[in-house]
Amino acid sequence: MNWRHLLLRPHAKTFGYVVLALPFLWMLWALFQDTLGANPAEALSRSTGDWTLRLLCLVLAVTPLRHITRTPELIRFRRSIGLGAFFYACLHLLCYAWFDQGFEFDEIAKDLVKRPFIWLGMLGFVFMLPLALTSSNAAVRWLGGKRWQILHRLVYLLPAFALLHFYWMRAGKNNFAEVYVYAAVFLVWLFARLWVAKRQPNKKAPVV
Ligand code: HEM
Repeated sequence: MNWRHLLLRPHAKTFGYVVLALPFLWMLWALFQDTLGANPAEALSRSTGDWTLRLLCLVLAVTPLRHITRTPELIRFRRSIGLGAFFYACLHLLCYAWFDQGFEFDEIAKDLVKRPFIWLGMLGFVFMLPLALTSSNAAVRWLGGKRWQILHRLVYLLPAFALLHFYWMRAGKNNFAEVYVYAAVFLVWLFARLWVAKRQPNKKAPVV
C-alpha cells in the first residue's frame, strides 16, 4: 500500500493526536516514577516549553513540506499539531503559575514587569490564543476563509517571541547553542514558505 494513503485513513488523525500526547504521557510517567531529577518542577517547566517550541517548528514545516515532498495530505495534520503546541504552551504557563508563583496573581503581574523573558513568553502565548480559539471549522465559517487566513498569518510572528523568550532565559547562563539551532530551523521553514508562495503566487493554501 502507498504510504500516502495511510495519511488519508480515517484513524490517521486520531493516531496523530496520540503521537502528540506522548511527551505529556512521558512527563506524567516520569513524574510518578520520580525520574524527573532533583528539581521535578523545573524539569516539567522546561520540557513543556521545549515541546511548545518543537511543535511550533513542526507546524511551520507543514506547508513547505507539503509542496517539497508533493504530499498535500499532510495538511490534515496542521491543525492538530498547532493545537498540540497550544496544549503544551498551556501546560508550560500552568507550571510557571503553579510551581514558580503558587498562583499568586499579583506576584505574576510583578514578575511580568520585572523579567523581560516572562513578558516575551506571555506575548507568545497571547498570540497563540486567537489561533487556537479559531481553529475549528465553525470558526473558519464564521470568520470567512479570507479573514481566517489573514488572522492565522500571526503564526509567523510566534517564532520571534518564542525565540526571544528562550534567548533571554538562556542569557543568564550564557548558553545559546539550542536557541541558535531552533532559530536556524525556523529560518529554514520561513524561507521555504516564502519560496513556495513565490512559486505559486495565485494558489491559496487550503484552510483546513
Ligand atoms: C509561545 C509560548 C512559549 C514558548 C514557545 C516557550 C518556550 C520556552 C522554552 C523553550 C524554555 C526553555 C526550556 C529549556 O531550557 O529547555 C522556556 C522556559 C521558561 N518559560 Fe517559556 N515559553 C512560552 C511561554 C511562556 C509563558 C507564557 C511563560 C510564563 C508567563 C513562560 C515561562 C517560562 C519560564 C519561567 C521558563 C524557565 C523554566 C525554568 O528554568 O524553570 N513561558 N520557555
